[in-house]
Amino acid sequence: MRIEADIHNLQQTDSLAMAISRVIKPPMIILLKGDLGSGKTTFVKSLVKYLGSDDVVTSPTFTLLNTYNAKFPIYHFDMYRLSSMEEALAVGFEEYFDKSRLDGICLVEWPENVEGLIDQVDLTITINKINDKMRKIIIKQGK
Ligand SMILES: Nc1ncnc2c1ncn2[C@@H]1O[C@H](COP(=O)(O)OP(=O)(O)O)[C@@H](O)[C@H]1O
Ligand SMILES: [Mg+2]
Repeated sequence: MRIEADIHNLQQTDSLAMAISRVIKPPMIILLKGDLGSGKTTFVKSLVKYLGSDDVVTSPTFTLLNTYNAKFPIYHFDMYRLSSMEEALAVGFEEYFDKSRLDGICLVEWPENVEGLIDQVDLTITINKINDKMRKIIIKQGK
């Protein structure tokens, strides 16, 4: 499966997140790729809302991990400040990426920074910024 969507504004990003939310069931690991400011955290905000959580979504740039409560836990990672798999192991992140033990879903920004840490990937969402409002969003199965 590979879906490519030409997005013209925030509302369309939100609608795409709504559609994706319908096929999400734990345990699932979803990677979010794209440059700084492409819209990864914005997409997570919509996704968390449509998964039925009222929790406030913020960027985990400094906390590295935010946890939200829906019908299941949502683990929102931002690996931006990490620079290797070893650094992620040092803070104990490997337990979240073992799908046999995962009780919720993982949404991971900047997975490129921890290459080797995550192998059981369900979806990869790549956001390319075209201009201020427009994005090309590619969704594919696996890594
Ligand atoms: N169509 C769009 N989809 C997502 N974000 C958009 C869109 N149009 C404008 N934006 C803006 O782009 C910025 C994306 O920031 P953010 O989601 O924090 O990016 P990232 O997490 O990838 O660094 C936000 O200010 C958001 O409002
Ligand atoms: Mg972000």
